Amino acid sequence: MKQFYIIALMLLAKISFAQNITETKSMPGAEVNKSTFSIVKTDDVLTTTSTTAIELTETVEEIQQEQVLLADLISLPLPVLKSSTSLEECILKRRSVRQFKNKDLTLEQISQLLWAGQGITDTKNKLKSAPSAGALYPIDLYVVTSKGVFSYTADGHKIARTLRADLRQGLSNACQGQTFIAEAGITIIITATLSKTTWRYGEKGIRFASLEAGHVAQNILLQAVPLKLNAIPVGQFNDKEVKALLELPTEQLPIYIIPIGYQK
Ligand SMILES: Cc1cc2nc3c(=O)[nH]c(=O)nc-3n(C[C@H](O)[C@H](O)[C@H](O)COP(=O)(O)O)c2cc1C
Repeated sequence: MKQFYIIALMLLAKISFAQNITETKSMPGAEVNKSTFSIVKTDDVLTTTSTTAIELTETVEEIQQEQVLLADLISLPLPVLKSSTSLEECILKRRSVRQFKNKDLTLEQISQLLWAGQGITDTKNKLKSAPSAGALYPIDLYVVTSKGVFSYTADGHKIARTLRADLRQGLSNACQGQTFIAEAGITIIITATLSKTTWRYGEKGIRFASLEAGHVAQNILLQAVPLKLNAIPVGQFNDKEVKALLELPTEQLPIYIIPIGYQK
């Protein structure tokens, strides 16, 4: 009997959420605010999920997560600025792990990882979490998910869809067939626009961009520790294939790749 009530409750919550999001999304420019996320704009009308018996096993949270990654522009939840894991513990526990549970990450986790990599930490001067030579910021971040590819904008802490396909297998192929990349919940691609630093520093600007990618990567890798996620830095990939797969702008070069996912 108790089980029946729980299932009925989940069903009601699911229908009410699906209706809410569909009605609101059909209004252009509509804003949806949920406790854990908000959608600021999308040109797409999100589809409701059919309520079959099998789907009842999904949690409402998982459904919300799936729906929200279908949007084109997502305002990320604010990063959490306190944790019970010390920096020393993060350094101690960080390890390159090549095994992932094939499961989508939540928006909160994605938000936290992107903020650690390139989030704005000084709003007055628009300075970011990782140091940058001359504060020129040549680095851009992309997130490859099962629902498509998103680019991160630090100003406003949001992600915008650039591609709709699941490119994780293609990305794995472009990384010399490193299979674990296809299984990671997300992969963060760190790119650099060299002209942003070379106009001031000449040849040295190329080195600076690589160093900065390293700073960004380390922040992300350390942030994965308190989130209890596995992560690994990947440098072995075909630059041209990754650039073509992600349809990166001409001036952006992929420098470093970080698959991240739930521990197996
Ligand atoms: C620049 C760089 C590139 C790397 N590329 C790869 C890679 O393509 N594939 C891989 O499995 N590990 C890669 N790694 C991870 C190293 O294998 C790993 O850091 C090393 O074994 C030490 O282990 P630890 O990170 O757990 O301390 C890379 C590490 C660095 C710093």
